[in-house]
Amino acid sequence: MRGNTMCRSRGFSSRWTHLVLVLSALCCLLTPTLSVKHENFKTCAQSGFCKRNRDYADHASSLSSSWDSPYKLDSSSIKFSNGVLSGTLLKTIDTTIAETVRLPLIITFLESGTARITIDEERRQKGEIELRHDSKARKERYNEAEKWAIVGGMQLSSGAAVSRDAEAGSTKVVYGPGSTFEAVIHHAPFGVDFKRGGETQIKFNEKGYMNVEHWRPKIEKPVEGKKEGEDGISEEVAKETGEDESTWWEESFGGNTDSKPRGPESVGIDVTFPGYEHVYGIAEHTGPLSLKQTRGGEGNFNEPYRLYNSDVFEYELDSPMTLYGSIPFMQAHKKDSTVGILWLNAAETWIDIVKAKISANPLSLGIGGHTDTQTHWFSESGLIDVFVFLGPSPKDVVRSYSELTGYTQLPQQFAIGYHQCRWNYVTDEDVRDVDRKFDKHSIPYDVIWLDIEYTEGKKYFTWDPLTFPDPLGMQKQLDAHDRKLVAIIDPHIKNEGGYGVVDELKSKDLAVHNKDDTIYEGWCWPGSSYWIDCFSPSARKWWAGLFQYAKFPSSAPNLFIWNDMNEPSVFNGPETTMPKDNLHHGHWEHRDVHNINGMTLINATYEALLSRNKAEEKSLRRPFVLTRSFYSGSQRLGAMWTGDNQASWDHLAASVGMILSMGISGFPFAGADVGGFFGNPSKELLTRWYQAGAFYPFFRGHAHIDTRRREPYLAGAPSTEIITQALRLRYSLLPAWYTAFHQASTSGTPIVQPNYYVHPGDEKGFAIDDQLYLGNTGLLAKPVTSEGAESVDIYLADAETYYDYFDFTTYQGPGTKTVAAPLEKIPILMQGGHIIPRRERPRRSSGLMKFDPFTLVVVLGNSGDAEGELYLDDGESFEYEAGAYIHRKFAYSGTTLTLSSEDLSIEGKKTKQYLQTMMDVRVEKIIIIGAPESWKTKSEVGVSEEGANKSTPVKKAALSWHAASGGKAAWAVVRNPAVAIGKGWKVDFAS
Ligand code: GLC
Repeated sequence: MRGNTMCRSRGFSSRWTHLVLVLSALCCLLTPTLSVKHENFKTCAQSGFCKRNRDYADHASSLSSSWDSPYKLDSSSIKFSNGVLSGTLLKTIDTTIAETVRLPLIITFLESGTARITIDEERRQKGEIELRHDSKARKERYNEAEKWAIVGGMQLSSGAAVSRDAEAGSTKVVYGPGSTFEAVIHHAPFGVDFKRGGETQIKFNEKGYMNVEHWRPKIEKPVEGKKEGEDGISEEVAKETGEDESTWWEESFGGNTDSKPRGPESVGIDVTFPGYEHVYGIAEHTGPLSLKQTRGGEGNFNEPYRLYNSDVFEYELDSPMTLYGSIPFMQAHKKDSTVGILWLNAAETWIDIVKAKISANPLSLGIGGHTDTQTHWFSESGLIDVFVFLGPSPKDVVRSYSELTGYTQLPQQFAIGYHQCRWNYVTDEDVRDVDRKFDKHSIPYDVIWLDIEYTEGKKYFTWDPLTFPDPLGMQKQLDAHDRKLVAIIDPHIKNEGGYGVVDELKSKDLAVHNKDDTIYEGWCWPGSSYWIDCFSPSARKWWAGLFQYAKFPSSAPNLFIWNDMNEPSVFNGPETTMPKDNLHHGHWEHRDVHNINGMTLINATYEALLSRNKAEEKSLRRPFVLTRSFYSGSQRLGAMWTGDNQASWDHLAASVGMILSMGISGFPFAGADVGGFFGNPSKELLTRWYQAGAFYPFFRGHAHIDTRRREPYLAGAPSTEIITQALRLRYSLLPAWYTAFHQASTSGTPIVQPNYYVHPGDEKGFAIDDQLYLGNTGLLAKPVTSEGAESVDIYLADAETYYDYFDFTTYQGPGTKTVAAPLEKIPILMQGGHIIPRRERPRRSSGLMKFDPFTLVVVLGNSGDAEGELYLDDGESFEYEAGAYIHRKFAYSGTTLTLSSEDLSIEGKKTKQYLQTMMDVRVEKIIIIGAPESWKTKSEVGVSEEGANKSTPVKKAALSWHAASGGKAAWAVVRNPAVAIGKGWKVDFAS
């Protein structure tokens, strides 16, 4: 159970409010130091298949070169056509009688240069197995993960070519860009080496850890147990070799027993990245961006990284424990080379990582040696299904991954403004009051959020009539300043007679089932509940219906949705989630689909928000959904946050690496609860957290119900003022953020980027995860995450000139620079060579900035040149898909001394109409940092703009130049060049 019920439940009738406040204050005083309850979550040794696979690997390793992996590719079965190689793997299970199990293998080569290895089991495929316990589950291995995760990029390679080397016992396929990629498939034992440019990048089954637990019938043991395994090997040996059958047929943990009707069925394989020292990804974990080793040793983890979406109450830092979401995508990186894999399996998964020092030869004394990163992946059920990306750059790998799983949704602009949340705004008047107070203090914000208490007794799609008597009036007040409301809707539906939603869920049979196919009942916020099964198309259709304005009472168009607890969180379930033998649509066991479950809910909600009202369809607005649980592909549907963190400095520090990790995992619309969810932050911590939050792609303040109110205006001097500055900074940079989101939505680039991603050749920066670049703007921020800090050290990877964002102090890279960071200052540098778009007029919300003028900040690099981008659209609708957008490239040339704006857009049906609406939106200021001394006496510049008939009338604009002083760069300002943001133009500094 999650904490203390008293701490969680609230009644808001005035009679009880006082008493409840006193009690909850007391209950919070009594709260012990927060820490995860380890006993609620399995370690590898407590997870049957994890232990078996680790034991199997240990056994193989201990035998070293005498280990004979039992998997062989039947050479006579190999076929190749149209980029697809197929064949049958034979797993020898009894050497004495040469008994084998048939495992169909498919290796697909895609036009994009990505390859895919899929291994199934023939007998299960054909359904020729017997289920135990009268289970109604499917017999096949789960093969629908791709249905949820993969949305594109599956075009088969037309150029892939096969050749056989009979002597070496291998088959080679040449594929990829310019036929520079190669897959060498070894037949016996089975293994695949992937090469790029002749050099091996990734090896499958090099260590021989491949393991497909084939189906077998359970042989009941004699009651008087002999200490013998079924096949005559001793129990001890069976355990050592990963054949420990004690967890084959049933498994208990924390008082729950998993019936495992299909017996042991795990899959695993080792994947080695030769010469690669760093691996990243496999979000979501709290450890460092550059993943740690997991087989012990100083500073390493002892447990594998786990992926099993869970509501981990009071999660700990620097841990391989699982969290709320899973992205089984890993990148390996070395100097100037990045490769990666996607392990497309939705069942519980663990990943071991070992970095092995390989010396060149015994006499070289380590000289010329290198490090291999050896990874070992295993999942409880499903297929071996792995996509292989050969890079060569981090950008290429993330793009290839995103091409398959989808790009980040381009959100509405409000979604990248500031979100004000807490558990809970207690009445609609409370919401209105907060809204007014933000205005009173001139603090911008876009969205206010409602947590579970707004409902009547935790029944979603209802409003508490006593505390929220006028939801429409509340939404109308917000709309007056173009603000939005986000309300929480969780997947557990309260089991209460007369509640229409639950009545329909039951009568239409749309909930998750028990193993015997009856409706599953569990416990969550509302008490006894049922769970919508969004794997079912009918359930999703029904869900969409619930969001219709007519059906969801008092919901207005400025209401959006937060889906929480979708791991799913079940308070009385094993490991706070659903029993693995529960059944979903299609009779797939929960075990098979667990990690995808959360994504199916936000998928349904996304669709629901698209169809709230027929009349709205013409000018449809983009949905906004926040999710806690996720899988590969969730990036297409909304934003995520890192769940229930704590109001402590170490949680603030950890958030930066976690968000960077989400970015390189293809789900960059990520944030952490600003201020920390549990506990009360000091003013300093809260202030620093807002400063960091201004650099989270998803920027939301949130707090637990038992915490003190902490809206920015309550912080008092000087914090309120400093927080306001951080928020204004975020708002002034919204054009840069929106452009970064656009890039993410078209090429998969992270919105905030780690050092290795921006500087893939700089080895010193590969493990850095406490500073970040905003898109390709050259803005480099290092949030302060320690108490009492007065300065931070920022690492500069290249020989560019960097400038302090606020006062233009110059820092010459490369190297580590100490940058002053008193409380009122966010350490941000601008890398030379970029042009940053801003909007500087303070407004109440981003919607009110729609027609505001722009400022361009030209940051001159060592070359004297600079370049930047701006993407802009209505920030709401899908009309950008029909060309209703502005996309400009700005370029400053130090040779011609001109700044120009060029069109990057592709004209569509709606382009002209949109440009018309933006005709009066101008550039009001150009700031040039590092401006040459020769401009000292210059007082104006020439400006030409493309006219309606492409003629170029020349006008003048005033220029002022400011000398360099005290380590600060010279700078110049062009005032009111008055060129339209949507047009081509040129500013001539030579004239
Ligand atoms: C979960 C969420 C948290 C939310 C709470 C109540 O703990 O992670 O953000 O406030 O549930 O809905």
